[in-house]
Amino acid sequence: MVSAWANDRVGVRITPSGTFNAMADSDPEALHAHVAEGLNRFGLAYLHIIEPRMSGYLLIKEDQPPLATRRARQVFKGNIIANGGFEPDSAAAAIEQGDADAISFGRYFVSNPDLPRRIREGLSLAAYDRDTFYTFEAKGYIDYPFYNSAVDAGDLVTARV
Ligand SMILES: Cc1cc2nc3c(=O)[nH]c(=O)nc-3n(C[C@H](O)[C@H](O)[C@H](O)COP(=O)(O)O)c2cc1C
Repeated sequence: MVSAWANDRVGVRITPSGTFNAMADSDPEALHAHVAEGLNRFGLAYLHIIEPRMSGYLLIKEDQPPLATRRARQVFKGNIIANGGFEPDSAAAAIEQGDADAISFGRYFVSNPDLPRRIREGLSLAAYDRDTFYTFEAKGYIDYPFYNSAVDAGDLVTARV
């Protein structure tokens, strides 16, 4: 890929805890630290890491620090984006602690089309509905509303459903 595009236009995403399609390893942390270190020579735009607290899109461990990210941080020299189970507060903490250069959001971006504004202004987040994930329908993907202070004000719920 870096021979086809400029290296700083290419990013790599890894899921150290992934088991999808039988892609598991007996020592995933060591394997992915090795992968992260090996990627240094490409000068990538970023390394994007899904935390082991996620399984697919399910949060399986609450309040776990960004472990996989910390391990990769020790060996990877470029930008790191961490993902998986972050809330605005825990995302800010991870950045402040230097664990990652950026945090990405998946499910909250599905249910909050104006997610950057909501985070920036400390507005409540709409809960996402798992029943509409992977449906291949528009419902649940393009019909969540933007923040409406008349409806959403005072609603501090950021519940997972
Ligand atoms: C409906 C849905 C589809 C997803 N599809 C992909 C995908 O194709 N490739 C991928 O790497 N991750 C995919 N993910 C995982 C997300 O990119 C993300 O890693 C996960 O939702 C955890 O982040 P979050 O806690 O911010 O939601 C998907 C997640 C959801 C909810």
